[in-house]
Amino acid sequence: MNKTNNPLPNDSDDSDNSEDSVMSDISDKDACELLDADHIAVKHLFVDYARLAVLPEPAAGKTAGQRTALAMKICDELTVHAQIEEEIFYPALRKALPDAGALLDKALAEHQQAKQLIADIRGIGKANAAMDTLVAELNVAIENHVKDERDMLFSKAMAAPDVDLLSLADQMFERQQELEAG
Ligand SMILES: [Fe+2]
Ligand SMILES: [Fe+2]
Repeated sequence: MNKTNNPLPNDSDDSDNSEDSVMSDISDKDACELLDADHIAVKHLFVDYARLAVLPEPAAGKTAGQRTALAMKICDELTVHAQIEEEIFYPALRKALPDAGALLDKALAEHQQAKQLIADIRGIGKANAAMDTLVAELNVAIENHVKDERDMLFSKAMAAPDVDLLSLADQMFERQQELEAG
């Protein structure tokens, strides 16, 4: 699949959820916009999870299935997101921006921390209080990481003449599709 999805309205698809909007609107996104669309989409999933997790019992128990599904979706999305950054975006920045090395090393260390939390969440398997705690912890870790990406990496990338953000967006989008297809 390429990045220029059919932008025409589709009668058979009346959904208006944010993921579909992101996917159908992807053609003119640059690499930072594409990555940030992921950041925003996953933030919505964290908010949905947190809303369910604060419900008192017995309501909370009834949402365990939904929380489990949300947690697995968060883990899957973040895993693919980190992988396209590590395979494509970060190496391009490392090559074009020699002074970004320390920032990229820090970003990779944060990915490792997130991957450990993701493994722990997957290890629990079914939503419970322990999973709620880990998902909340992952939310905070990702919030901080995303802030660093937006404030430091993206601004450096946007200012760098040798970084082709549109071409990187193409490459990351294709890889993302490939990884999501399994
Ligand atoms: Fe990242
Ligand atoms: Fe990111």
